[in-house]
Amino acid sequence: MPRRKKQISEAPKRARKKTTPVQAVKGIRDILPQEWFVWDHILDVSEKLCRDFGFGKIEVPILEHTELYERGVGQVTDIVEKEMYSFKTQGGSEVSLRPEGTAGIVRSYIENGMSRWPQPIKLFYTGPMFRYEQPQMGRYREHHQFGIEVFGDKSPVIDAQVIYLAWKIFQKIGIKNISIQINSIGCEECRNNYKKLLVDYYEMKVNKLCTDCKKRLVKNPMRLLDCKEDKCMQVSSSAPQIIDHLCEDCHNHFKSVLEFLDELELPYVLNPNLVRGLDYYTRTVFEIWPSGEESESRQSSFGGGGRYDNLVRYLGGEDTPAAGFSFGIERVVERILKDGFSPKIKSTRKVFLVQLGDTARKKVLKLFNKLIDNNISVSESIGRGSIKSQLKIANRLNSKLALIVGQKEAIDDTVIVRDMESGMQEIVTMEKIVAEIKKRVKK
Ligand code: HAM
Repeated sequence: MPRRKKQISEAPKRARKKTTPVQAVKGIRDILPQEWFVWDHILDVSEKLCRDFGFGKIEVPILEHTELYERGVGQVTDIVEKEMYSFKTQGGSEVSLRPEGTAGIVRSYIENGMSRWPQPIKLFYTGPMFRYEQPQMGRYREHHQFGIEVFGDKSPVIDAQVIYLAWKIFQKIGIKNISIQINSIGCEECRNNYKKLLVDYYEMKVNKLCTDCKKRLVKNPMRLLDCKEDKCMQVSSSAPQIIDHLCEDCHNHFKSVLEFLDELELPYVLNPNLVRGLDYYTRTVFEIWPSGEESESRQSSFGGGGRYDNLVRYLGGEDTPAAGFSFGIERVVERILKDGFSPKIKSTRKVFLVQLGDTARKKVLKLFNKLIDNNISVSESIGRGSIKSQLKIANRLNSKLALIVGQKEAIDDTVIVRDMESGMQEIVTMEKIVAEIKKRVKK
């Protein structure tokens, strides 16, 4: 017969030893409950507007095959070259945490056969993105975006509608001081011709460029235009501008976009150096900047987007024109808080339950369920002992009514209904309490 091993548990000994707390990963933060009133505000406003504009919600995975971003965002972009969280799974697949949302939405569009759905397809999404960047204010390794994408329509009116919706979201959120920076980077054909001119121009001034730009000259010359180094910006100020080198179709497309924006009375700034950091764009590109801070540009840009007519094909789908936009929620939250936006905690729960003693606690637990069953949302701090500390919390939550059950009320089967604003109190029987609260909450 096998001998039984004697089990020695060391767990209690180890549990007693104090260990160093595990900290969050650098550049990755918690969003605490007190921040959520701003996050909820942003998400509620954005989602409502998107639905009004006929957009449907989509959620795609945070983890995708690395190849999706290499092919979609571009091999020689900062994002793919330096910023991806990529790893091999136990099964040997190369996967990455998504650095942005568009490529994943395009994958989903193709994989789910959305080209057979009635066009255009209008989608919105929100969620975390991961980029291994140097963390600083407004730049994190995990950030969140809210985005929109439209598939199946190449008309310039779509570009204008995307920009209009982006602008409207910011207006409704309450951020009025923004500027729309806009440019066209043409199609592949006009861009290739323009790139040659650009390389010729910068090669003559190569000694005046920063080290990164010297590399960009070989790998991705368009990105020279939006380098933030003073000396490079000086060189770029006299560089040839792509709008002067657009083919006829791209020129007409851009002209129409601007005419639509004029019609919508949207203020915009033509920015010949705006090229965006992702490779998939064609024709219209735009960013939303805090106004008056043009010099900080990408660093502080709230959001960006544009047209990407080749991406669906690049990723294996049929030729499908598309355009979209997304903004960084953290940056918007920071701006809102900086502007002093501090609505009181929106208390959707108007009733707060207060108890004293074990019998009262049991009664309150039952009352809590009864109120919830009657669609009255309630808050409580049922673990606390003192009535004073519970009323303090009720006050902080802006509760309209406190329902107090002390030892006497527990025996009498009654409740003290306290109006938190006037301090007036009234005793109501447990039997009538739901009807009474319904009446008062309605008021
Ligand atoms: P993006 O410009 O790379 O575009 O990112 C959009 C926004 O996300 C930025 O304007 C910024 O507010 C925010 N953001 C980016 N990186 C960080 C970071 N490290 N920390 C905090 N916020 C950040 C895109 O991602 C495209 N997918 C937009 C798009 C949608 N184009 C077409 N459709």
